[in-house]
Amino acid sequence: MTDLVIHNARVMTCDPSRSGLGIVDRGAIAIDAGVVSWVGPNDQRPHADREIDARGRLVTPGLVDCHTHAIFAGDRANEFGMRAEGRTYLEIAKAGGGINATLGPTRAASDDELIALMNARLDLALAGGTTTIEIKSGYDLTVDGELRLLRCIQRASAMRNQRLVPTLLAHLIPPERRDSRDAFVAEIHEQLIPKVAAERLATSVDVYCDEGAFTLAETTAILRAAKAAGLAVRGHVGQFKDLGAAPLLAELGALSADHVEQIDDAGIAHLAKAGTVAVMLPGACVQLRLPVPPVGKLRAAGVPMAVASDMNPGSSNCETLGVQMWLATTHFAMTVEETWLGVTRHAARALGLSGVGTLVKGAPGDVVVWNCDEPAHVPYRYGTNLVGAVFIAGVEQSR
Ligand code: NIG
Ligand code: FE
Repeated sequence: MTDLVIHNARVMTCDPSRSGLGIVDRGAIAIDAGVVSWVGPNDQRPHADREIDARGRLVTPGLVDCHTHAIFAGDRANEFGMRAEGRTYLEIAKAGGGINATLGPTRAASDDELIALMNARLDLALAGGTTTIEIKSGYDLTVDGELRLLRCIQRASAMRNQRLVPTLLAHLIPPERRDSRDAFVAEIHEQLIPKVAAERLATSVDVYCDEGAFTLAETTAILRAAKAAGLAVRGHVGQFKDLGAAPLLAELGALSADHVEQIDDAGIAHLAKAGTVAVMLPGACVQLRLPVPPVGKLRAAGVPMAVASDMNPGSSNCETLGVQMWLATTHFAMTVEETWLGVTRHAARALGLSGVGTLVKGAPGDVVVWNCDEPAHVPYRYGTNLVGAVFIAGVEQSR
């Protein structure tokens, strides 16, 4: 007997072997031992211990948020107010705010405090339908401190049903290391990365390669070491300035290039050739009033696009992918289909996860039942949480 069947549903499979969103109208889905065991027409469904009538509603894979900075303490509402008055993110950062302003509170917080703060954010993400979520370190910026953040993510992971995907992020040169910049970069690739790999504290390494952060040469040294240590690589690139990281990301087979407000045609061709996912972060783009990434060119080149929250205390204090989907469809002019793939299958690809973000036989039984029947309704009715029920590995989550 099957564990769970959700029937009378519009099932969005995101099946890579089918075009578009792979919708099965009048469909049903069966889950056994936490895994999708069958998807097909309603009238052919197996019987199950628990049967749920979706009453014609949309049933999708659990959402995948492939880019967050959800482990930090404190907030930067003051900077939000300053930007509303016309100051820019880079001006505020140069005056001692920005990422540096989050280092102090994060370093001062205990492990338990950091985990409690992160858990509250992850609960909000779950309420919005996020069942898999990436979390980057990056708000301590010492070797031991970054290891501590990743160990906190590991502890939270053991406490939660959501799938947490930890990433080591080389976020910035902290103020106290500005005069020993080269030595700090060397500590990252000679000490931090080998420890992270040995303890399996992260699956990827990400570098913020941009004006005011790491140079291309520093990014190269860090990401080459990550690759050599057997970790996947990703990059925050071209949020403010294109420092030319795309060829490096392509050479290393990077999982993703994130932000990419600034990227030239040659860079796009590199991403396309390498199959690197371009991660769109529309919340951060709008909030910092940046130009829109070249979505049309990425589409034309065949670069897979993901959509993520960028959840962080500075540029995007948002846990909810539905809002990002609204911004992706309206401000970024991504299609509804691209946007859905961006928070499901393509987001999972940016995390190096196969099966996740789809509802096909063998995929994890991570499912959202929505209080609507049309995929467009989720972004169209932005700000309203249309999540009806969330299942992780076939188990309904209380939200
Ligand atoms: O992805 N761009 C770099 N990092 C974050 C912002 C982090 C912060 O401001 O605290 C981002 O937008
Ligand atoms: Fe980010």
